[in-house]
Amino acid sequence: MRVLVTGCAGFIGSHLCRRLLADGHEVVGVDCFTPYYPRAIKEANVADLLPDPNFTLLELDLATADLRPLLDGVEIVYHQAAQAGVRASWGTQFESYIRHNVLATQRLLEAAKASRLRKFVYASSSSIYGDAECYPTSEDVVPRPVSPYGVTKLAAEQLTYLYWKNYGVPTIALRYFTVYGPGQRPDMAFHKFILAALQGRPVQIYGDGNQTRDFTFVEDAVEANISAGQCEASGVALNVGGGSRVTVNEVLQMLGEILQMELVVEHLPPQKGDVRHTSADITLASRLLGYEPKVDIKTGLELEAAWLQQLLVARAA
Ligand code: UGA
Repeated sequence: MRVLVTGCAGFIGSHLCRRLLADGHEVVGVDCFTPYYPRAIKEANVADLLPDPNFTLLELDLATADLRPLLDGVEIVYHQAAQAGVRASWGTQFESYIRHNVLATQRLLEAAKASRLRKFVYASSSSIYGDAECYPTSEDVVPRPVSPYGVTKLAAEQLTYLYWKNYGVPTIALRYFTVYGPGQRPDMAFHKFILAALQGRPVQIYGDGNQTRDFTFVEDAVEANISAGQCEASGVALNVGGGSRVTVNEVLQMLGEILQMELVVEHLPPQKGDVRHTSADITLASRLLGYEPKVDIKTGLELEAAWLQQLLVARAA
């Protein structure tokens, strides 16, 4: 089957491509290599995929490119491309979030109207909930984002719904809860914590460290995408959580044990746009996708730490 993965050189997109290729699919990967973090990191994410004859990498911007030809013969779209980062979405940066999250999604959906897709899977985010009314949070809780990023992810998610409602584009949205693991973006907490510890710098915590996240291992998020691509349901949004809701302080405790070192912690003020807690009710994803997270937080942290340790060794060589 021919599939399209947008944001293929990103953290989750590259893992998803690897899995789709291993499953025998022909993967067209699109990325526009935004400068949010170094291009070299994204190139490294796809380096092992490029020699595969079933993989094509196209560098283009979904906000301007002609998208109709891109969907020729494509059966499933996995739309992972986004301007990521909750805390960076204020001020003048917002324009980039509108462009890469809202406009890009709308243009892809317009192109999808004319094609015969089996499924259009959209990477949504737990940030659409904001400080939710209740935990664990189910999909029928009123979304009320507290970051400009969350507003754009929600706007795009609602676009996927209305293109299903009005034009029958078979969309499904996956609300990821703080995905981590090998290849994690360099602006995200675990990547920063592990690197700081390994390089002998203090680990910087925003606020008191008692905020919680339902951290989700990247291969579990990939599995949710694979199931979403094959499922019957359309026009729905599903929580994809990791089943590992822990505080940031608990994560640091675990990391100290994994790295076998005393971490030096520096507390910085809480950041605007950060929610206090996330916790996913995954009943719906479990019912519609058979989704069940498999990797617990300790195992996942070990895998991410091992990846970063190897990376540092390779860089030093
Ligand atoms: C993450 C992703 O970055 C978003 O793209 C995604 O949409 C979102 O998850 C989601 O679930 O919707 P976030 O939860 O902020 O956002 O992920 P991290 O950067 O890993 O932060 C996790 C926690 O660690 C937050 O409470 C944050 O305040 C804290 N943190 C982060 C620190 O204390 N110090 C840091 O240096 C970085």
